[in-house]
Amino acid sequence: MWRVTIILVLVSLTMAVDKSVIIIGSGISGYSAASRLIENGFDDVIILEAEDRIGGRINTIPFSDGFIDLGAQWVHGQVNNIIYEMTHEHFEFGSTPFVEVPFTFLFSNGTKADQELFRTISKINFDIFLALDETDTFTGSFGEMFLEVLGEVTMNDSFPVFKDLDLKIIETMKENAERFINGYCALKSWFDMSAKLSAQEDEAGGNLHNTWKKQGFKTVFDFISKKLPDPSQHIDIDSKVQLNKKVTNINYNVIDANSKAVITCEDGSSYEAKHVIFTPSLGVLKKYHESLFTPTLPEQKVLAIKTWGFGAAGKVFLEFDEPFWSEEGEPFVAYEFLWLDADKDEAKAYNREWMLGISAFYIVDEFPNMLEAYLGGPKINQFEASSDEKIIEDCMWALEKFLGKSLPKPKAMTRSKWLSNENFLGSYSYPSMDAERAGVGIKELAESINNDNGEPILLFAGEATDEKYPGNTHAGVRSGFRAADEIISSYQ
Ligand SMILES: Cc1cc2nc3c(=O)[nH]c(=O)nc-3n(C[C@H](O)[C@H](O)[C@H](O)COP(=O)(O)OP(=O)(O)OC[C@H]3O[C@@H](n4cnc5c(N)ncnc54)[C@H](O)[C@@H]3O)c2cc1C
Ligand SMILES: *[C@@H]1O[C@H](CO)[C@@H](O)[C@H](O)[C@H]1NC(C)=O
Ligand SMILES: *[C@@H]1O[C@H](CO)[C@@H](O)[C@H](O)[C@H]1NC(C)=O
Repeated sequence: MWRVTIILVLVSLTMAVDKSVIIIGSGISGYSAASRLIENGFDDVIILEAEDRIGGRINTIPFSDGFIDLGAQWVHGQVNNIIYEMTHEHFEFGSTPFVEVPFTFLFSNGTKADQELFRTISKINFDIFLALDETDTFTGSFGEMFLEVLGEVTMNDSFPVFKDLDLKIIETMKENAERFINGYCALKSWFDMSAKLSAQEDEAGGNLHNTWKKQGFKTVFDFISKKLPDPSQHIDIDSKVQLNKKVTNINYNVIDANSKAVITCEDGSSYEAKHVIFTPSLGVLKKYHESLFTPTLPEQKVLAIKTWGFGAAGKVFLEFDEPFWSEEGEPFVAYEFLWLDADKDEAKAYNREWMLGISAFYIVDEFPNMLEAYLGGPKINQFEASSDEKIIEDCMWALEKFLGKSLPKPKAMTRSKWLSNENFLGSYSYPSMDAERAGVGIKELAESINNDNGEPILLFAGEATDEKYPGNTHAGVRSGFRAADEIISSYQ
């Protein structure tokens, strides 16, 4: 008889505490949340993922004789970067020398520009960016602020380079500054980004362009699951992931401590859990928040979803038989394009406007035969809709124009398509003017929804919900850990 009693007590003890968690999305934030939860004894964890692969905006693919990244590529920073901290003692990072090696400036008529002059100008541009990053007293857009400061600098006797400088050159300088910012922050226009809110974000310190060499960003998942550096510590997360499971509704209308949220998928299946962590992009939230959540989300959160920025950036990788970009002895990192009006018009006439969003063609660490282009601006949709043949043709048109000679055809090309993919609808978040005006921000995006007992039921993680480093992979990790910790501490 006593045995039966003990068994009953044990059963009721384990039955009493339902610690089930469903994580929506297997990007770096969802994966990090799962790792932290499982490590803390939460066994009932399921990750539902709409795509047929783990990783989200980390998408490492085989290309040439290694792996390249269509999404996140660099570990941006070393100090205060949680990814760098968990990996660098066990992984020897490479680097793209964007700071160390000066860019090569070319005009679209095939003439090499005065390198000394453009390097000086581009250094001044960069110093203005850095200065703006430190000042959060401006109101207005990043673009307006940049132009205001540049205006002051060009009139200032301490910068003699601007004396007698052709107005056209100053125009080109502004254009290239915007092109760079648009690409870096995934903007259509630099007038869309708030100067004040962007200055409030942090940047991790140290080298900003640490590379995973030929192995790609996917390597980070082995560190998050602790397979690396010590396989005996491995937390099995992959077996918790269900692929091709697109979530269409989350009913979080839980009445009491015993009821659960109900998650419905596109294939008709449904799941129940005590806690739901939602990690899909802000782009997905913008388009689908009304149908995704029952009841509808709180007003302030909806306002933040509608107004906070979510932009699009793109990438092209070209592999050649051999490099044509390194002239003897000259260190090379990137071509920066200085477009002349006639050639901009030609780009427009041939549906190549997307090319005007490319800030540079640059080398790829450990792939000596490869060039990569990064682009932002308003024409990412045209870029993604163009066929692969057209992309190659457009790139070669531009490269031949700027280099002023005919070039060998690339032997392979691959490129990203983040904006047209329904599971992303863009690339990463940015602090918008609209959000500054509405007075809402990351806090509202990140806020959890609790039941009447104060237990978190619906939690939000993902790159856009991290107040310090939004946009970045390390923000993804931090946000996943934050959501997991919130659930864990609700049981303590
Ligand atoms: C082109 C590009 C370049 C970048 N470069 C860098 C870089 O160099 N360094 C850096 O640190 N960061 C970079 N980033 C940003 C970085 O990739 C992201 O910040 C980070 O990967 C986001 O992770 P996440 O988990 O928040 O979101 P995601 O990776 O988007 O994860 C969310 C997951 O949810 C899934 N999902 C969506 N909808 C549903 C649904 N209805 N049901 C189920 N699942 C769903 C998605 O498929 C996805 O897997 C770059 C991003 C892009 C696009
Ligand atoms: C190309 O354009 C630049 C900038 O306008 C000019 O200085 C240069 O002379 C031009 N070269 C040719 C060959 O026309
Ligand atoms: C000119 O630039 C110098 C150096 O940045 C700065 O100290 C000075 O205040 C500027 N002068 C004006 C009039 O803006």
